[in-house]
Amino acid sequence: MASFHLEAKVGEIAEKVLLPGDPLRAKYVAENFLEDIQCYNRVRNMFGYTGYYKGNRVSIQGTGMGMGSCSIYINELIRTYGTKTLIRVGTCGAIQEDLDLGQVVIATGACGDNSANMLYFEGKQFAATPDFDLLYEAYNVSKEHHIKVIPGTIFSTDSFYDDVPNRWQRWIEHGVIGVEMESQALYTIAKKHKVKALSILTVSDNIITGAAASNQDREQSFMDMMKIALEV
Ligand code: HPA
Repeated sequence: MASFHLEAKVGEIAEKVLLPGDPLRAKYVAENFLEDIQCYNRVRNMFGYTGYYKGNRVSIQGTGMGMGSCSIYINELIRTYGTKTLIRVGTCGAIQEDLDLGQVVIATGACGDNSANMLYFEGKQFAATPDFDLLYEAYNVSKEHHIKVIPGTIFSTDSFYDDVPNRWQRWIEHGVIGVEMESQALYTIAKKHKVKALSILTVSDNIITGAAASNQDREQSFMDMMKIALEV
């Protein structure tokens, strides 16, 4: 059996799944970090692979950008394939001036404007938080490997482009450190289904200063983020 958007047979996807937005990242990580890999999904070119990392079975599935797209894959992974642990590996734009480009961030909570959450919770707000054990473990792994991580609250938005002046001011005042487009949905869906979720992000740009990470910054921080996600 397959799901609407994934052609894998039940059993072909591991209980732990890493979730990059970019399907080519999924391919790259599978080919460079995992052993004995099998590509289980090519539908819409949203590649998904299962392999082994240090003997442990793990899958990596592209989600596309935004909560509309990633929610589809997250729901199907959990509902059809029995995924128990979901770790997003992505990027965020910083909204605090002192957050370095390339910095690894662990999202301890996700505010957001996800339209599905607004409908689902009838206009009230759900506090979207990660699984504590995963968060604790990821933090410890980063310490063991001497990788500097910033734990902090992020904001997940449905709209990348907008013309609102000072759009992030109120969120900056409340200590939110970065903006991306997936984690609020990931954390919410995971809680509903009683599975574990965490978002590990690297800072690709600074929305306030306009700075963008160099390829070298991106490469190093990507490796650091993957190390944490795979070791957890
Ligand atoms: N906005 C939204 N999502 C992002 C950004 C951004 O500036 N950078 C990386 N993901």
